[in-house]
Amino acid sequence: MPSFSRCVLAVLPALMLATGCDEGVSEEEALDRLQLTTLQAEPRVVSDAVELGRALFWDPILSGGRDVACASCHHPDHAYADGVALSRGVGATGLGPARRGGVVIDRNSPTILNTAFAGVGERGELNDAAPLFWDSRVDGLEEQALAPIKDAKEMRGDAFSEDAIVDEVVARVQALDGYRSLFREAFGDDVVTIDRITSAIADFERSLVALDSPFDRYLAGDEDAMSPTQRRGMRRFVEAGCANCHAGPMFADFELASIGIVSQRQDGTLDEGADDGRFRTPPLRNIALTAPYMHDGSLATLRDVLEHYDDIEGGRRGGTFAIDRDARRLDLDDDAFGEIEAFLHALTSDTFDRRIPATVPSGLPPGGALE
Ligand code: HEC
Ligand code: HEC
Repeated sequence: MPSFSRCVLAVLPALMLATGCDEGVSEEEALDRLQLTTLQAEPRVVSDAVELGRALFWDPILSGGRDVACASCHHPDHAYADGVALSRGVGATGLGPARRGGVVIDRNSPTILNTAFAGVGERGELNDAAPLFWDSRVDGLEEQALAPIKDAKEMRGDAFSEDAIVDEVVARVQALDGYRSLFREAFGDDVVTIDRITSAIADFERSLVALDSPFDRYLAGDEDAMSPTQRRGMRRFVEAGCANCHAGPMFADFELASIGIVSQRQDGTLDEGADDGRFRTPPLRNIALTAPYMHDGSLATLRDVLEHYDDIEGGRRGGTFAIDRDARRLDLDDDAFGEIEAFLHALTSDTFDRRIPATVPSGLPPGGALE
């Protein structure tokens, strides 16, 4: 820290504060640079399709072998991620770290909490065509929901082609009384289409909002909601340059960047992300609940993440792809690690909807083969 030398005479941290030596970016400046906005904390879409979407999200009937549901890899016990480096799809059993066997997916499962706010603008404008997935390859939750259903590794298996699975899933759902009544509640009639299925799932996902973290309470005017360490961490986060990419209400600009996480797919080929090793800057809300980190789950803890960024700054990491300038220009001090970590913990809002349905209309185990 360049400001440090002016403070060397102040021995006690408390004295540093008292003499105003704890300078750098002020709290107001930090908040300004973070480009925050208060978001509506209520579930955004209280559409009639949420309960239908919940049933579909939990029902393994959407998978070729009737063994995998969306919730298999996005489970409330793991903050709607799955708590492992790489997810396991078709043929796997168990939940989270206990999941075993089956097909290993090439990437880490992100949380779907607050995906309603993916791609949110600086003034809180919502974006229904937000870039999703680690490489931004789809636009919006509706389009996204079709991808795992069609994906051979995640849900489809190899008994159906990509086209056949869509017809199959529609027919299976249409055949069940439980779904026909949920479709009537949601859409007024019981015609099942794939667009209605994905739109109900998307509405359910939009209802999974978690915005009452200590940080949000602080932003709403409760200064004590964040500890002094967390507040210093917020300033360090900005001073270090993290907010050059992780700013805005979701702590992400949702732009593509390369920060030097290089991984190989299961088949041994290089995962280039969108291109040239660039991945979408991910949101940081609830980040303390969704370890391990990065598109390949290769960093186990937030400390490991900070050490990774420190290595970029020190030039100890480079290589395969050109690293984004904003990541090379970080000004990260080991002393700040603890404070930044504390700040990241202040982004945890754990009052989200954790309901696990006791049954789903197919009669299959909710969440798939989680035992
Ligand atoms: C086998 C595990 C698995 C299953 C089953 C699964 N997902 Fe995912 N999900 C993932 C992984 C892994 C990613 C990241 C993939 C990538 O970026 O390439 C992901 C990404 C997502 C995202 C993007 C989040 C973001 O911030 O970009 C959403 C939304 C999502 N899944 C919803 C669903 C829905 C809805 C279903 C069911 C139709 C589902 N998932 C089924 C593992 C799974
Ligand atoms: C150049 C833009 C950029 C800067 C600057 C940046 N990040 Fe990131 N961050 C990213 C991208 C892109 C990823 C995802 C990379 C991947 O998975 O390959 C990421 C991932 C993360 C993750 C893991 C998220 C998850 O869900 O797994 C954390 C935590 C994180 N960054 C925190 C920070 C902190 C703290 C700083 C400052 C020291 C910082 N970032 C600076 C772009 C940036």
